[in-house]
Amino acid sequence: MFVFSVKPLFSFLIATLSFLLLLAFLSPPSSPFSLNHISGEQSSLGKVDIWSVRRLMEWRPCKWWLQEHHTALPLETNGYIRVDCYGGLNQMRRDFCDGVGIARLLNATLVLPKFEVASYWNESSGFADVYDVDYFIQHMNGFVKVVKQLPLAIASKEPVPVDCSKRKGQFDYVESVLPSLLEHKYISITPAMSQRRDRYPLYAKAALCQACYKALRLTRSLEMKASKLLDAIPKPFLSLHLRFEPDMVAYSQCEYPGLSPASVKAIKAAQGQQLTERKPWTGELARIWRRRGKCPLTPNETTLILQALSISPSTNIYLAAGDGLMEIEGLTDTYTNIFTKSSLLSGEDFTSMHGNTKAALDYYVSINSDSYIATYFGNMDKMVSAMRAFKGLHKTLFLSRRGFAELTSQGLKGKELMQALWKLHRDDFVMGRGSALSECFCEFKL
Ligand SMILES: *[C@@H]1O[C@H](CO)[C@@H](O)[C@H](O)[C@H]1NC(C)=O
Ligand SMILES: *[C@@H]1O[C@H](CO)[C@@H](O)[C@H](O)[C@H]1NC(C)=O
Ligand SMILES: *[C@@H]1O[C@H](CO)[C@@H](O)[C@H](O)[C@H]1NC(C)=O
Repeated sequence: MFVFSVKPLFSFLIATLSFLLLLAFLSPPSSPFSLNHISGEQSSLGKVDIWSVRRLMEWRPCKWWLQEHHTALPLETNGYIRVDCYGGLNQMRRDFCDGVGIARLLNATLVLPKFEVASYWNESSGFADVYDVDYFIQHMNGFVKVVKQLPLAIASKEPVPVDCSKRKGQFDYVESVLPSLLEHKYISITPAMSQRRDRYPLYAKAALCQACYKALRLTRSLEMKASKLLDAIPKPFLSLHLRFEPDMVAYSQCEYPGLSPASVKAIKAAQGQQLTERKPWTGELARIWRRRGKCPLTPNETTLILQALSISPSTNIYLAAGDGLMEIEGLTDTYTNIFTKSSLLSGEDFTSMHGNTKAALDYYVSINSDSYIATYFGNMDKMVSAMRAFKGLHKTLFLSRRGFAELTSQGLKGKELMQALWKLHRDDFVMGRGSALSECFCEFKL
């Protein structure tokens, strides 16, 4: 009986599906995303949220570094390299990954990096405070040589620093750094942004990718803390990286008329701490600056965009941010299920933690959240989105400061503005724009 009643239903479903598919093919392609008409084109403030839209592209780790047959490591090393890293945790990680690629490129041996005092955090933490050293060494096996200890002959020496930062343009590590390495045998570098990765042989790129996305794991104790935090957040949840902090706003040179006196004071203090004086633009210049997408989104603006994306006000939101967020009522008045690490962990959990290890908690939660939205495109956002792509998590989105500024400067308001914001971000989401770095990830048509 049961079998007989299922079969006709099944055939009916097949027929219906075929018919729908036929319709989809025959309907004129009014936009490159015509399939979205089915799943959410009409939805601004509607029932369907941004994540339900059908994606056309996604980024996946490229095959050439996942498949583990590589060029054999050279028998002789050209010398030892220490990578010196500065800035916030994710900036240091990025530079370190670059450094691993460079060490392989130069047939050098890597010593553990120096993770420097970060002026932003006003404290220091070493590489081993955050990352599992043995795990790293083990997982770089075959990609690049890594040692914990230097050979006796050079163990007592400090590395000779080779400055890469000031050389712009056609910077090439083989031309510029290899001679110093061969001469001194032990050098330290801080990778330059302008390096020529396109000239790297694949085995050097593979070392970079392996280091960044497979070999770096948090220390056991940090990971335990992070997973305790993750467990405490109600599921499913969105991890939101807001960057409306005094240092960021001071640095941005943007004008914000609606700030509270407390925020104004915090921004003034942050301005005082920055090396060069960057006064906010005013008048027409301020408007041009804003339209170029230079101004961090306020919590108010972020809330408006989240609403345009039909993110429900009942969504559980983890705030991946430091304690310095300003004007946060702009978010919490609408989105009430907000969680932070200080609300979920006890004071005890934070003893012996510093800026970098706290940043590691946000990183861990954000690569494991159901969805991730960033209001900026900073080092953390790049690292998190790439890592999420690596793990097959694609509900990742960067809010467009520039798009928001353009639309509002055109005078769009209310429903019209919401609709335009929806379209803008939907297209980004559908095409997987900005969601991974192309050096280790390849675009994949869905
Ligand atoms: C590194 O070693 C490979 C062979 O293993 C060689 O082809 C390449 O030229 C070497 N590069 C440098 C910079 O020594
Ligand atoms: C950095 O931290 C030390 C000790 O915690 C403190 O005395 C000092 O004032 C801080 N410096 C800045 C610039 O915040
Ligand atoms: C956010 O919106 C509230 C209410 O409209 C307003 O009072 C406040 O000034 C706004 N904050 C910012 C930073 O624009």
